[in-house]
Amino acid sequence: MMLSKSLINNIFIQALVFPCTVFATDISDNRQQELIHLIKHDCGSCHGMTLNGGLGSPLTAEKLEGKSPEALSSIILNGVAGTPMPPWKGILDKQEVAWMVKQLKGGTLGNN
Ligand code: HEC
Repeated sequence: MMLSKSLINNIFIQALVFPCTVFATDISDNRQQELIHLIKHDCGSCHGMTLNGGLGSPLTAEKLEGKSPEALSSIILNGVAGTPMPPWKGILDKQEVAWMVKQLKGGTLGNN
């Protein structure tokens, strides 16, 4: 009895805490809107308005699946030498880029 009760409590607490830890971010709502705008317009100018690719490779969740968030963040921050992909270091900080990668991989941008 005790065991199952604590298990249920534990699941209940996890359900409450888990979404908060996953989505916790210090980026303000306004800044998030700016970043979404940047992805659609600035990144979209090369990667396509729907992120399905153009001059730059597609950035859809499907295409980015299996690529590590760290590697993608590094590409965004530093650019890819010898290609048109510019470095965004001066414009975006690491936390913002990590947030953008999460949106891209989550497929929450693009067509909408
Ligand atoms: C001037 C054109 C241009 C702009 C603007 C641009 N990119 Fe790129 N991007 C590229 C190109 C070209 C590549 C492919 C580089 C290569 O051949 O490895 C690339 C590659 C990438 C990759 C690696 C994709 C993969 O599958 O490995 C990511 C992630 C990326 N860009 C994100 C962004 C983001 C986010 C922005 C906006 C902040 C952005 N890019 C803006 C041209 C651009």
